[in-house]
Amino acid sequence: MSAGLWTAFEAAAATGGALCARGGDPDRWIAEEWAAKGLSIDTRTLSPGEMFVALNDMRDGHDFLESAFERGASAALVARAPANAPDGAPLLVVPDTLEGLRDLARAARLRNFGKRVAVTGSVGKTSTKEMLRAALEGLGHVHASDKSFNNHWGVPLTLARMPIDADFGVFEIGMNHAGEITPLTNLVKPHVAVVTTIGEAHIEFLGSRENIARAKAEIFLGVVKSGAVILPIDNDQFGLLRDLARRAGVERIISFGEAKDADIRLISYRGDASGSEIAASIFGETLDFPLGAPGRHQAMNALAVIGAARALGASAARAAAGLKDHGAAAGRGAQTKVRLSSGAEVTILDESYNANPTSMAAALALLGQMNPKGKGRRIAVLGQMFELGPTAPELHAGLADPLLAAGVDALYVAGALMDHLWDKAPPAIRAGRAGDARALAPSILESLEDGDIIMVKGSNASKVSEIVAAIKAAAESP
Ligand SMILES: Nc1ncnc2c1ncn2[C@@H]1O[C@H](COP(=O)(O)OP(=O)(O)OP(=O)(O)O)[C@@H](O)[C@H]1O
Ligand SMILES: [Mg+2]
Repeated sequence: MSAGLWTAFEAAAATGGALCARGGDPDRWIAEEWAAKGLSIDTRTLSPGEMFVALNDMRDGHDFLESAFERGASAALVARAPANAPDGAPLLVVPDTLEGLRDLARAARLRNFGKRVAVTGSVGKTSTKEMLRAALEGLGHVHASDKSFNNHWGVPLTLARMPIDADFGVFEIGMNHAGEITPLTNLVKPHVAVVTTIGEAHIEFLGSRENIARAKAEIFLGVVKSGAVILPIDNDQFGLLRDLARRAGVERIISFGEAKDADIRLISYRGDASGSEIAASIFGETLDFPLGAPGRHQAMNALAVIGAARALGASAARAAAGLKDHGAAAGRGAQTKVRLSSGAEVTILDESYNANPTSMAAALALLGQMNPKGKGRRIAVLGQMFELGPTAPELHAGLADPLLAAGVDALYVAGALMDHLWDKAPPAIRAGRAGDARALAPSILESLEDGDIIMVKGSNASKVSEIVAAIKAAAESP
């Protein structure tokens, strides 16, 4: 694509907006000549040549027009031309900028002939989205969501950024409440929709696992005719998801997991700290492949990815080949070895990006699968999980089983709700607790010994990531 992502005329046609510029000499308006090479909603990360979209979300983007043009914006999508829009700066004026962004998204979809995959689920969306990117990259030009851009502006932004020549678009779609996924899936209209798993994330707003499954199942409503869905067969909500997919008119339902009827079935899993070897049955044919990201839960994500690739008509083996070197992302299982000033070499398993009961259990299982060297210990540092509603105390206490199964030698907890786990943990492994994660850092640092593996996980708001930062700051990488 030579002209960039959007020309002025294309963007105006897509949005029905007016091309103009504020003030200045009308004879010198350049409003109709610009082309944007990308889209940005944040002037701090805007690259020169991008169109700035002035969304009114946490803050009003119109307040940042001046800095957008200072940073080299090629144009701005606005709902008004405020006084701080520089004279002559090209504007595309629409009644509502979020609606304008959605219009661009729809037009980006209609002019592209590639295939779209949308991923939802209680956990594993970003992990699976990144795995899909890696798996599909060997098969064509992939466009995928940035970070966790999965909400009412993240999804349209991702779609509006999709280049005209992308062969694949990969979208993360999230929700906190029922009804949020419907407009997003109708915008993306995926050829393939993946549900990674149903857990308890956001149960505070949804009330039950069944309601969570129903809310995730909204993703089926946008699936194109003759499209497919990829569903987790081992999940207790599988039957409901399958029924809802059928009711939505989806003809092709592909299941993944360990149950013997799974279309994409895990035959065996061997994993260590650095990755795993997977044997799977893909519609009856055996496929062995290595996966860079460690943990059984990542193996499950990989099966979903292979199911999606097959639904897109790709070969399972070629998709799997892209996963060999695909490691875990920061805060989602990335491992770092550090040497402390005491000389102790310690492995940090950084799961601090976020947590809910499903991903906590997965991370503990991964810790259990890692073998400390010498006299090293398995240390779990767990921060409180938020947004779990009235069952939160039980859900925290319920981590005792995976904790014991993982063979954890020392447990640190932060946050009041974690006391429910603390009380159930064997006294011998209780190493420390605090209301605030940051208060734990000094005693953890002091206790670390050679060979220890320390896994840090908690909800974002629990701030356990600061413990990872404190250990890294106190260490030099070997
Ligand atoms: N299939 C899975 N089952 C259980 N845990 C998983 C699974 N996939 C990833 N995880 C773990 O869950 C955590 C969150 O992963 P990830 O960021 O991929 O999820 P997400 O659904 O995108 O989250 P968010 O809703 O915050 O965007 C990580 O710690 C990751 O290791
Ligand atoms: Mg995410």
